[in-house]
Amino acid sequence: MQLKTQATERNVLIDNKKSNVSKAARLSVAPMMDWTDRHCRYLHRLLSRNTLLYTEMVTAPALVRGGAVHLLDHSVDEYPVALQLGGSDPQELAQATKLGADAGYDEINLNVGCPSDRVQSGTFGAVLMKAPELVADCVRAMQTETDAEITVKCRIGVDDQAPEEVLPDFISRMQDAGIKRISIHARKAWLKGLSPKENRDVPPLDYPLVYQMKRDFPALHLSINGGVSTLEEALAHLAHGMDGVMIGRAAYHNPTDILSTADREIYGMGADTDPIHVVHQMLPYIETHLTQGGKLNQITRHMLGLFAGKPGARAWRRYLSEHATTRGAGPDTVLAALQNVTQAAV
Ligand SMILES: Cc1cc2nc3c(=O)[nH]c(=O)nc-3n(C[C@H](O)[C@H](O)[C@H](O)COP(=O)(O)O)c2cc1C
Repeated sequence: MQLKTQATERNVLIDNKKSNVSKAARLSVAPMMDWTDRHCRYLHRLLSRNTLLYTEMVTAPALVRGGAVHLLDHSVDEYPVALQLGGSDPQELAQATKLGADAGYDEINLNVGCPSDRVQSGTFGAVLMKAPELVADCVRAMQTETDAEITVKCRIGVDDQAPEEVLPDFISRMQDAGIKRISIHARKAWLKGLSPKENRDVPPLDYPLVYQMKRDFPALHLSINGGVSTLEEALAHLAHGMDGVMIGRAAYHNPTDILSTADREIYGMGADTDPIHVVHQMLPYIETHLTQGGKLNQITRHMLGLFAGKPGARAWRRYLSEHATTRGAGPDTVLAALQNVTQAAV
């Protein structure tokens, strides 16, 4: 019911908003399991009006076979937001796409980059770099279900593949299948022997290859991802000709540094945001969440990095970590934690 209401509200905006999603994709916060949940996205949206936000990956089987449509819950306040799906069965992905589009998401993204064992066992994620024609079938089937844009997030290759050969072949097949926008994590995934975490650091980054892809496929909107740790680095990638930059861990751990000036620096519109003001803006959201039976820590865990590198940051983190799980914790707990920052700034 809630989803239906959201979708109806959205339909009014959808035509105008559609083209704006690829503009928003000039900067995006990457999909991250257990991290980019709806609370995290609400916080990020307060820091930047324009940055494109991605959900955690939701698997098509969970939605279609498991009926877990609650995984699609989100708020209209998060837009522009893209739903990331995992799966490799075209029909199932098509059904999941329809559910996601009906729920109001601006974009549906297919995960061809995640190397975790759990995901491999279901033939999702990075292992699909070895089956580009199947991926093409998947995105074709997904496109038949919605007007929302279907996009792909991929690696430059897996295992012993030669990225300079497989990546252009993969991108070309995506283009033939009607894909217009791809995010490329600029490193290989090694499917055996490395943990998912190691797979985000150990295989070397190859930015020049991704730049080359932009030159080879000028009509496509290509975003570069992997190891971008500051907004200055993001601007440098854009200056190299990339259409977009996707940032994962740095945006999560350091949301203020990445997002609070993004509207002005990346999009050339809007004012910078202030993390202290954002904390105050979070309070009504927190209140509502608690009223609905939620826990403070489910929201504040995403706020720990708000003052990273600034006076009082450590005390803010420590106070929130220690007190957000205690009985009766609520907005006052957050305000008490904030005093550590405001006092340190005096
Ligand atoms: C905790 C965590 C969870 C992730 N979950 C996903 C996911 O669900 N789907 C996906 O495509 N990538 C996932 N990734 C990978 C990120 O989207 C991104 O590609 C990767 O972290 C590299 O970008 P970064 O160096 O800016 O963090 C995850 C990364 C992290 C740190």
